[in-house]
Amino acid sequence: MPKLIGILTSGGDTPGLNAAIRAVGKSMTHKYNMKLIGIHDGFRGLMENRFTELDDRCLSGILTRGGTILGSSRDKPHKMPVGGKVLDMTDVMVENYNKNQLSGLICLGGGGTQKNAYRLAQKGLNVMTLPKTIDNDVANTDRTFGYDTALMIATEAIDRLHSTAHSHHRVIIVEIMGHKVGWLALGAGVAGGADVILIPELAYDEEIIAEAILKRRREGKRFSIVAVAEGAVSKKDYEAISADVRSNAPADLSEYKIGKQIQARLDLHFKTRTGILSQRLESLTRKETRVTILGHLQRGGAPTAHDRILATSLGTKCAAEVAAGNWGNMIAVKGSDMVPVPLEEVAGIKKFVPTDHPLIISAQDLGISLGI
Ligand code: F6P
Repeated sequence: MPKLIGILTSGGDTPGLNAAIRAVGKSMTHKYNMKLIGIHDGFRGLMENRFTELDDRCLSGILTRGGTILGSSRDKPHKMPVGGKVLDMTDVMVENYNKNQLSGLICLGGGGTQKNAYRLAQKGLNVMTLPKTIDNDVANTDRTFGYDTALMIATEAIDRLHSTAHSHHRVIIVEIMGHKVGWLALGAGVAGGADVILIPELAYDEEIIAEAILKRRREGKRFSIVAVAEGAVSKKDYEAISADVRSNAPADLSEYKIGKQIQARLDLHFKTRTGILSQRLESLTRKETRVTILGHLQRGGAPTAHDRILATSLGTKCAAEVAAGNWGNMIAVKGSDMVPVPLEEVAGIKKFVPTDHPLIISAQDLGISLGI
């Protein structure tokens, strides 16, 4: 009787998820005599016991498809909304795993999924993960699949915005996904030739951005493109929120908890920040300004060839590690190798853009303003 291995996709969907599911499933059946069981809608499906066998027919024709054939959700095992309440459903998931006689569980996801998978591993389940997210912010891996596709979409959007910004002599602010990290905005900004790039890791000064735009005008360049990550924050906002939280925090609250509260307050209004920035720049530069929010377009559609290859290589390596019983790892990209990394070295850690990253230096050398 072949071993049964469950697989789920959790968190924001990402191009390349189906390519990864296909690679895991095909190599498991063709090479290792195991069966892959699809679990619907992330951890919710594990709790609700919604399982389907992924036979060869289900795995055919999905390599190029965007999204995930399994469905996804942002539900967490230990904080699951159930019947109007938020409950810890971890034990129910462990029960369903055992009831279905699974020998292991593969979780495909970003930072949140890695944490949740690690929690299940600590409960005794055999867990393996793959790093997927357009944000490219999973710790201990060079890359996540989905990033390249989103990068291509955002870059193409900046290319297209150039001609209209140029024709109307406007400032166009293009908001790119990434509410905590700036890999996508930085990458697309550089690839698309943006004039200003703003990322969450570097709090910006509106006056400095305005001066960069005005300098371009003095040089005869009558339009500017500002690529801004959705979580980029102005120094003023950061300082005001930080001072407010600190002055109202009880004395015994640790720095970590204060940091969390500041982040939560910043997150609360990150959806309106680009609009506020636009108004400020229009008044500082007296130039007509428009905002384009790329939003979920960046996660849609077919994966690039690069993401298909990455997801496939991670998937086949995952099947090999599962067959070897090397549980408790995420399969990471290290140079051209796919290697298992212990989940405790991934869970709860975010891979921010280092502020001295070569691409940041390169952008600055080109004269791109980072608003600092
Ligand atoms: O986690 C990936 C991501 O696309 C982020 O870049 C973005 O901030 C977030 O998901 C959007 O989440 P949702 O799809 O739940 O609105």
